[in-house]
Amino acid sequence: MAKILVTGGAGFIGSNVVDRLIKEGHKVVVIDDLSTGFKRNLNKQAKFYEMDIRDRGMEDVFKKEKFDYVIHHAAQMDVRRSTKEPEFDAEVNILGSLNLILNSQKFGVKKFIYASTGGAIYGEAKYLPADEKHPVNPLCQYGISKHTVEHYLYLYKALYGLNYTVLRYPNVFGPRQNPEINEAGVNSIFIGLMLKGKKPTIFGDGEQVRDYVYVDDIVEANLSALEKGTNEILNIGTGVGVSVNQIFEMLAKILGFKEKAIYAPPREGEILRIYLDATRARDVLGWRPKVSFGDGLKRTVEWWRKREESSS
Ligand SMILES: NC(=O)c1ccc[n+]([C@@H]2O[C@H](COP(=O)([O-])OP(=O)(O)OC[C@H]3O[C@@H](n4cnc5c(N)ncnc54)[C@H](O)[C@@H]3O)[C@@H](O)[C@H]2O)c1
Repeated sequence: MAKILVTGGAGFIGSNVVDRLIKEGHKVVVIDDLSTGFKRNLNKQAKFYEMDIRDRGMEDVFKKEKFDYVIHHAAQMDVRRSTKEPEFDAEVNILGSLNLILNSQKFGVKKFIYASTGGAIYGEAKYLPADEKHPVNPLCQYGISKHTVEHYLYLYKALYGLNYTVLRYPNVFGPRQNPEINEAGVNSIFIGLMLKGKKPTIFGDGEQVRDYVYVDDIVEANLSALEKGTNEILNIGTGVGVSVNQIFEMLAKILGFKEKAIYAPPREGEILRIYLDATRARDVLGWRPKVSFGDGLKRTVEWWRKREESSS
């Protein structure tokens, strides 16, 4: 049993990580400012600090709680907001993360797991699937801020011995994803609309592809990284791209949705194709995705159905 800080533990991925850690018998503390997360996602057995990761008071929490591990998920993760408010994005994602890294080093944290992005840092891919050696050329401010923290982690290991693993996520989907944020939530957005009988909008021709991994597999990568990751960057992904048109068709089938999607002009700056080579994560963590995209969609639809029933 270890004592683990999960930042962003009221959010989509963080809360799923917390539930699993508690199931495994760990003591969990959550720090979250509830800016995009929800109290309803908080596991009751986790201790909760409603706090901004930029807060200098963080030091007192580290001093008091004596964490063994930090799993860092709190972030400004809206790509479009990062474009409109790049300074805010940098403050939260870079300075907030640095605050956590400094305290982790100061208070002897054994390892720091960082949720980075493989979807937003490689830019328009030069080859696919993109592995960790692919040039990093973010085409959005969010990609830059998320990537910058990877450099700090390398530095704090080199200078002070703070162990870390960086997980570069693909597009994650599953229960608790907030459809109001970001293109990453395309599955949730479509499910939410289609369940109400409304037509989803597809931007561009719908042939843009992404790498989708179900949240339980992401949780698994975090748990393996606590034990096995070796101070490096690991892509997490399926190695296969799925297009928006394919998602629409699969969901239409699952939900018996008979309408056509609405097509709108492409979004400015949207990357057309990205999917990730996770061979290194397989070798180092023994990680591979277990839930197929179709099964993940079905499970997510089930979760949405239950949620709609309980709120009606
Ligand atoms: N969802 C994806 O597809 C995806 C892909 C790549 C990387 N990621 C990364 O995974 C992490 C979690 O993403 P998510 O999809 O669960 O998003 P989310 O918005 O559901 O979760 C983020 C959580 O962080 C909290 N938070 C935001 N700013 C904060 C601050 N200043 N101080 C304290 N808490 C703060 C929010 O309230 C929220 O609970 C993020 O770091 C994100 O960059 C997500």
